[in-house]
Amino acid sequence: MLMQKDSSSSRLSLVPESVTLRLLDRIHELRKKGKKVILLNKGEPENPPPYASEFTKMALDQGLVHMPPISGLPELAEAIAETLSEDDKQIQLEPRSEIVITPGSKFAAFIAVASVIEQGDEVILPDPIFPPLRDMVTVLGGKAVQVKLDEDSNFELDVGTLERSITERTKMIILNYPNSPTGASIGEKQLRNVLEIARQKKIIVLADEIYEKIIFEKKHTHVLSFSDYREITMMTSGFTKTYGMSGWRIGYLITNQRLAQRALTVLRNSTTFCPAFTQKAAEMVMRDPRTKDFIGRNLRDYREKRDFLLKEFRSIDGMNVVTPDGSFYLFPSIAGTRVPSSSVFAEKLLSDYGVAVLPGNAFNPWWDDHLRISCNGRHRICRG
Ligand SMILES: Cc1ncc(COP(=O)(O)O)c(C=O)c1O
Repeated sequence: MLMQKDSSSSRLSLVPESVTLRLLDRIHELRKKGKKVILLNKGEPENPPPYASEFTKMALDQGLVHMPPISGLPELAEAIAETLSEDDKQIQLEPRSEIVITPGSKFAAFIAVASVIEQGDEVILPDPIFPPLRDMVTVLGGKAVQVKLDEDSNFELDVGTLERSITERTKMIILNYPNSPTGASIGEKQLRNVLEIARQKKIIVLADEIYEKIIFEKKHTHVLSFSDYREITMMTSGFTKTYGMSGWRIGYLITNQRLAQRALTVLRNSTTFCPAFTQKAAEMVMRDPRTKDFIGRNLRDYREKRDFLLKEFRSIDGMNVVTPDGSFYLFPSIAGTRVPSSSVFAEKLLSDYGVAVLPGNAFNPWWDDHLRISCNGRHRICRG
């Protein structure tokens, strides 16, 4: 028999299988059998603002069904620039040349990495982190170097450890704050220290700030707030979390004009652009006066669920839970329980109690003594 030659890219065999997708299949299987499942595993909010669909229909009726400019609708880029400068007056952007709208913020990170790294370049990331940020580095031919966060320091980034991980081949540092899955944020001073080290070593810093407005304990400092570091900074965010508009697939990359041009080359030669009518709807939602209330209400809801789940999980013998600064996740340790692994724990919760959580090994094998719990579901808290 002839052996079939595997002509696929060998890089892809280095990318681990998605534990998240396996869990989704399992939930689907249980639901098909008629089982009720409480979803504490979800990475997306339940509901977009009620007017988001209406705005989308309006945009279609206005005839926004053709190709918009590749970098995005100028009016959406302007709304994003204005919203950022409302957060921090230091952030003054040139929307047309410094903002690139993409189909989702994950793709914004993808074009950022693709436009910076060469084959074999190293990219430093804190660990744990949203797995695609790490795996896209591998897909693009780079080497992901992970700096493990310490639970005893509330998963705060240790700048010294990060600095010691830098080598001749380091081209980029990717941060994600508030972080998925730990919820830890980064303070202004710490961020400045990272940027100073990066500038000295000519390293680009990409900050995934998609949870920028879901923050409880600290003020969120944008990487773009440091105007004297604009040569090396790139920021991504989008409409999936703050605005609950995951299905609209709107994200954006903000960086200096030179890097934005490079990123546009990647966009032009891949997805081309993001549909105009979803961009228009995103712009209208962002500018709508009701949206501030929508974001505020969600924040209160996440905080209430976070506090409730913190209390409940802390009452379980052997469980340790760090209070997250932001995002809508808890990342409890099950090391003190007698359960040998996060998959066993998660499967037991799912099959015996109908509660879905994401096992920690979804992030890395050494987080197998943790779980990721989401505080963003439609469920209501019932006491007693
Ligand atoms: C840190 C982080 N970045 C990006 C994304 C994906 O965002 P989008 O839906 O805009 O691609 C997620 C979603 O879970 C996330 O947690």
